[in-house]
Amino acid sequence: LSTLVLHGPNLNLLGLREPNIYGSLTLDSINSLLEAEGAKLNIKVSFMQSNHEGALVDAIHESLGKHQGILINAGAYTHTSLALRDAISAVKLPTVEVHLSNIYCRESFRHHSYISPVVIGQISGFGAHSYLLGLQALAHYLRKEKN
Ligand code: DQA
Repeated sequence: LSTLVLHGPNLNLLGLREPNIYGSLTLDSINSLLEAEGAKLNIKVSFMQSNHEGALVDAIHESLGKHQGILINAGAYTHTSLALRDAISAVKLPTVEVHLSNIYCRESFRHHSYISPVVIGQISGFGAHSYLLGLQALAHYLRKEKN
């Protein structure tokens, strides 16, 4: 099994960026944790980060035929992007949405996610551990092929 981990805008600045909200781990350290978790789960994990909406859309399209599932932290595009939502619906690859922070405890503009209706589930609020929980959930779903 092969999965794509997609990191959206500003997540390249993790470690520096509002560590009180997002924690002090860098994106590279989160990716290393995911790689180790993937090895435990016997699932291949590839990574991509972009600050550009269209590049994220392209990466979702290019997953077809390459990956069986997607783990995505769409960053602020979560709250704005119909294009990302449509890309996820179009490829129909099982997708798990993750957030470091609990978006429901924050500003009201973060409470709505455009992508939640097209994913199998969402994990929000556990810091870097959200990604590991998300990968576990995705691997479990892919092996069972259902919720
Ligand atoms: C985020 C939450 C979003 O509201 C924010 O724009 C981000 C990160 C999170 O992981 O908590 O960039 O997706």
